Amino acid sequence: MDLTLHVWRQTGPDQPGKMETYTDECRDISPDMSFLEMLDIVNERLILSGREPIAFEHDCREGICGSCGMMINGQAHGPQRGTATCQLHMRKFRDGDEIYIEPWRARAFPVLRDLIVDRQALDRIVEAGGYITAPTGSAPDGNLIPVPKESADAAMDAAACIACGACVAACPNSAAQLFTAAKAEHLNLLPQGQPERYQRTKAMVDTMESFFGSCTLHGECQEACPKEISIDFIAYLNRDYVKAQFKNRKLAGQRSA
Ligand code: SF4
Ligand code: FES
Repeated sequence: MDLTLHVWRQTGPDQPGKMETYTDECRDISPDMSFLEMLDIVNERLILSGREPIAFEHDCREGICGSCGMMINGQAHGPQRGTATCQLHMRKFRDGDEIYIEPWRARAFPVLRDLIVDRQALDRIVEAGGYITAPTGSAPDGNLIPVPKESADAAMDAAACIACGACVAACPNSAAQLFTAAKAEHLNLLPQGQPERYQRTKAMVDTMESFFGSCTLHGECQEACPKEISIDFIAYLNRDYVKAQFKNRKLAGQRSA
């Protein structure tokens, strides 16, 4: 395949960026290559001609680590539903295609270089409550706690979140509601997550709102999510947030008594 790439190039966070076009570097691309392998080939050719390679993040290249996110023709992670950029293959494109590649666009994700953005704001949300403090012992001890099958399945669905940030990039409000819902509810649904359920929910939602926009249930996050996490989890999170307004006050009263 011969392609034309239009790629966002930016040398640093405070530097101006612009789209640059590549044609000679994107010739003879195999349809069996992954999207990142195609970028590897382009980068090899850029390096051989003495130019700067395109900076992009990647690690696992199997849809687990969440680092490879980019906008491809205006779609987070590209045209294939439920697929991270590293699992997208060039057979999804056609010979002669023009492909526009940009970093995530959200104020909470400043561009560090080319296609790499700083996603630390997501870490701040997890730090606020995405954990349990109860000692759970080793794996066999954990398995002694009975968990209803429906709860276990739902918690596993939420735990599939790889923190890629596509939901933020796709949202017209740049909200991180789907990410926060996944990270809070996979604990809130399990017995081990109950003691801190309402403190967790309030802390995580309040932290999210200090970095990101507010959710208006547009639904783009669910469409962009490579793990197909349902916006039902946003409903669960909103339910827990409303309850937290009462439960946390009651707990505070118990502590002062
Ligand atoms: S909810 Fe989906 S899109 Fe959002 S960070 Fe998690 S895996 Fe990525
Ligand atoms: S490189 Fe790890 S999810 Fe794509």
